Formats: sequence, C-alpha cells, structure tokens
Amino acid sequence: MRRVFSGIQPSGEMHLGNYLGAVRRWVADQERYDAIYCVVDLHAMTVPYDVAELAGRTRELAMLLMAAGLDPQRCVLFVQSHVPAHTELTWILNCVATVGELRRMTQFKEKSHGQESVSAGLFDYPVLMAADILLYDTNEVPVGEDQRQHVELARDVAIRFNHRYGETLVVPEATFPPVAARVKDLQDPRAKMSKSSESPHGTLNVLDPPEVLTKKIRSAVTDSGTEVRHDPEEKPGISNLLDLYAAATGTGIEKAEAELAGSGYGDFKRRVADALVEFLRPLRERYAELAGDPSEVSRQLELGAVKAETIATAVLDRVRRVTGLLPRHPA
Ligand code: TYM
Repeated sequence: MRRVFSGIQPSGEMHLGNYLGAVRRWVADQERYDAIYCVVDLHAMTVPYDVAELAGRTRELAMLLMAAGLDPQRCVLFVQSHVPAHTELTWILNCVATVGELRRMTQFKEKSHGQESVSAGLFDYPVLMAADILLYDTNEVPVGEDQRQHVELARDVAIRFNHRYGETLVVPEATFPPVAARVKDLQDPRAKMSKSSESPHGTLNVLDPPEVLTKKIRSAVTDSGTEVRHDPEEKPGISNLLDLYAAATGTGIEKAEAELAGSGYGDFKRRVADALVEFLRPLRERYAELAGDPSEVSRQLELGAVKAETIATAVLDRVRRVTGLLPRHPA
C-alpha cells in the first residue's frame, strides 16, 4: 500500500487554510493509504514561542485532528519530538542539503525578513521537514500550495542522497487539493491565510463559534463592482470566498459560481458563512467531546509514537549503514 505522510505545526489555532489545504484530505487518505500524520512541535520552536503553551497546544492540535476525523485505529498520529529519529536523520541530511538551496527557500526569506536575529533552526527548517518525510519511506505528501517548495527540496535531497550512497530513500511527491490549495486572508486576499496574520479578522479558525465565523466573513474585504465571479486576478476577495463555499459544500468552482452569481455581496457572504458554519459544526461538536477526556488523547499519542518509531528506526538503521557510521555492538 502506498504511504502518505504529512505534518502540521502547533503554533496558533488550526485555521481553515490548514483544514481545507491539508487536514481534510488526510482524513480521506487514511481509508486508502498507509497514513502517518505528525504534530511537528520541533518546527514550532524555530521562531520565538511561548514555552508555557507549547505542550498544551501540541495536545490540543492532536485533539483537533482527531475531531476532524483522524482515527488512530486507521492511521498513525504522533508528536514529532517523541520520535528522536527525526532529529538524528536531520543531522545526516544536513550533510547532504546545501546552504545554497536552503537560502532559496521563499518561506525562510519571508519569515526572516526584517528580523534582527534569525535562528539557525529557521534556516534548517526544511531539512527537518525532509527528515520527517524521508524517515517513513513516504510516497505522497498531502500539503497546501505554500509547502510545495519544501517538498521539492525533500525530493532533491533524497535523490542526491541515493546518488551518493546508493538507493536508500524513497523519493516522495507532493499532492495538492483541487480547490482551496491556497486559502487567502479575508482582510488581505492577496496573502495566504496564516496563523500569524496581521488582522485576527483575516483568519477563520476551525473552532471559531458560528457568530464569530459569520462576523469575520461579513467584514471580509471584497472587490469593486457587484458581480460574484471567480477571477483571482481581478476579484481576489470574491474568488477566495467562492473557493471556501465550493470547498465547504463539495461543489466545483463553476457550479458554486453559477449558484451564487445572481446574489449581491451581502447575500453572497451570508450564504458563504452559513455553508461554513454547517461544514465545521461536526468538528466543533466532536472536539467538545474529546476535550472532556485529555488523557485519552495522550494515550493515543503514545501508541502513535511507538508505531512511528518502529518504522523510523528501520529506515534510520538503513541510513546509518549506507553512510558508513560504526554500528554499536552492545556487550
Ligand atoms: P503548517 O503547520 O503551516 O500548515 C499545515 C498544512 O496546512 C497547509 N496550509 C494551507 N493550505 C491552504 N491554504 C492556506 N492558507 C494554508 N496555510 C497552511 C500547509 O500547506 C500544510 O500542508 N512545514 C509544514 C509542516 C511540516 C510538514 C512536514 C508537512 C513539517 N514537516 C512533513 C508535510 C510533511 C508547515 O509549517 O505546515
């Protein structure tokens, strides 16, 4: 069976971009693939973060993933820092990746821009991500559009590694959703929706109560004119809302456009908001149930870490062997 692997950072709340660009497909993929999903807490340390909150956020995000439909009986769900093989493989891949290719990463350029001090971890972030992926003999990596370049780097590193040391690592491929691969910020529809958005009204969190979702959509930036039409260049705000509607109702863009074409902006926004509230309702309800029993989530994460570690250790042993490291011989 083909294997999928993907990850999400526990920094900020899960927003609709994360859900539509990635997590929703993870849920579907666990039926058809050998699926492994990871809360990447080590990645969240690459920028300044609140120490008192990291562990709680990690657990909450795992709970949200389960509320979204990840079932630890059907996939492996675990926390990155619980499996030390990730950092060990990162070091080995650091000796394969080049400074030149890391410098070209747009996300590094964006996140480091204007910062007085940038951690070496932020620069090395894509190598840790490559290690995450390559450690599990991954075939496919379901991600949103913003991670395309990072998965490309993981491919390049795997190919170079195999060239240097012989066929060892599976070369992965990124996959993207047909709609909502890049959900935009509601207040700035030229930028992607992100956890670090300038305006809190620009980001729709999956746990936002219905009235908050509705309010944010009502205040979303629209475009001049009155026509509801999908045209990302001329009408980025309206097109983004159309994408959200299409994703939430499971219709294609063209059908969504045809359905909503006659509405004025006010009515259009109301229909988008209603569709999203309904779409997210089951997730909110399931989250409330799970939140009542946090120890169950911890138990599931421990089981996930054990399963992940078994797979990761075998791949890491293979890597250690081909790279010429001296094996241990316990007495
Ligand atoms: P992260 O935590 O920023 O985002 C998690 C997933 O959500 C997708 N995403 C979006 N999709 C559509 N529109 C948006 N506005 C949007 N914002 C985020 C991301 O593309 C991602 O799929 N580096 C990764 C985490 C990671 C990872 C990995 C992913 C670490 N190791 C190995 C895959 C495989 C990240 O920061 O995602």
